[in-house]
Amino acid sequence: MNYNKKTVRDVDVKGKKVLLRCDFNVPMAKDGSGTITDDKRIRAALPTIQYLLDQGAAVIACSHLGKPVATFDSYVKKQAEKGKDPASITEESWKKSLAALSLKPVAKRLGELLGREVIMAEDVVGEDAMAKAAALQPGQIMLLENTRFEKGETKNDPELSKKMASMADLYVSDAFGAVHRAHASTCGVADYLPAVSGFLIQKELEIIGGALADPKRPLVAILGGSKVSSKIGVINNLLEIADTIIIGGGMTYTFIKAKGGSVGKSLLEADWLDYCRDMMKKAEEKGVKFLLPEDTVCAKEFSADAEPVVVDSMAIPEDMMGMDIGPKSIAVYADAVKDAGTVIWNGPMGVFEFPAFAKGTEAVAEALSRCGAITIIGGGDSAAAVQQLGYADKMTHISTGGGASLEFMEGKELPGVACLLDA
Ligand code: 3PG
Repeated sequence: MNYNKKTVRDVDVKGKKVLLRCDFNVPMAKDGSGTITDDKRIRAALPTIQYLLDQGAAVIACSHLGKPVATFDSYVKKQAEKGKDPASITEESWKKSLAALSLKPVAKRLGELLGREVIMAEDVVGEDAMAKAAALQPGQIMLLENTRFEKGETKNDPELSKKMASMADLYVSDAFGAVHRAHASTCGVADYLPAVSGFLIQKELEIIGGALADPKRPLVAILGGSKVSSKIGVINNLLEIADTIIIGGGMTYTFIKAKGGSVGKSLLEADWLDYCRDMMKKAEEKGVKFLLPEDTVCAKEFSADAEPVVVDSMAIPEDMMGMDIGPKSIAVYADAVKDAGTVIWNGPMGVFEFPAFAKGTEAVAEALSRCGAITIIGGGDSAAAVQQLGYADKMTHISTGGGASLEFMEGKELPGVACLLDA
């Protein structure tokens, strides 16, 4: 895939109406109050928005939020699948579910951050959005309603793309978190408008793309998280590129079992044992160092106050489960990143939400913070861990994408990037 894409700096935006796709899929408080609990994704979009406004563009911003069900019929179907009696499902409850995913709180927060009014449209391509877009002046910004309120959005319906495109002269995508989605607002509109990237996508492509295509070596990939099955693509791809692969987190135990160890009550994906064996064999053949934790911090139950016990990773007792990497592994892993040129980290080393089992993840974050390599943190959980543990400003780059950065590291083509004009 070509990562070298035209950006907002390569086109004349003055006096133009710009349809700007952002990823404003922010976490909201569960109480339905519309409180945004983390506005990082809104902040991440500010440089591009500010640039466009300063250059005299009129900005029509859009985004999805959550996974609303766009029609009442599908809502009834979904609720019935969850075991609800279809006769008891009302149109009112569907509308309430949509209201909870309105982008109005985002417009308010964006307005506060920009220090200017953000005009909120009541719909995506309805009368209100069309009228407000038509009246929008250079230097003004409006926000369309949640793009997933339109049933054509996730189907990448050309009719919806055409309607969205009709509001603007130019399409700018800065929604890195959603570039792995082939939806109307993430790539369909690019069939009808010249399409370039914003600064956020540009940065993600340069840093992650650069590390995958031409890394400063040695390249060390640290892969954690709970399941081997959700990291197959990443392991496959990084085995082709990396000099060292370090394994941690819940997926460790499937590898340990595949090597002949006993894993007690640890997370195990029995269907993936052969795959793990193949990967370890492939690593050996390719001369890629493949590190599994030598020791493991175990507990009798999955709980924050369970007593931590350190054991040999190959001999986890019957009544225990692995919760974190142990002290010997921490030392080996820290040593492995010491002279790295690039480190890509995806997935925590243990149950970092529980302080007693966060030491492995924290030690890896600490080792990365002082190793001098280009350090790239991808994926929602590892980014959250680095932030929660206070190492965020010590890393070269923390990706704003969860699924998107995972698919990027898998070497997959990203539809929301492929649709942009090549530089
Ligand atoms: C994300 O949160 O990873 C992106 O906004 C994509 O959201 P989605 O998984 O609902 O498409």
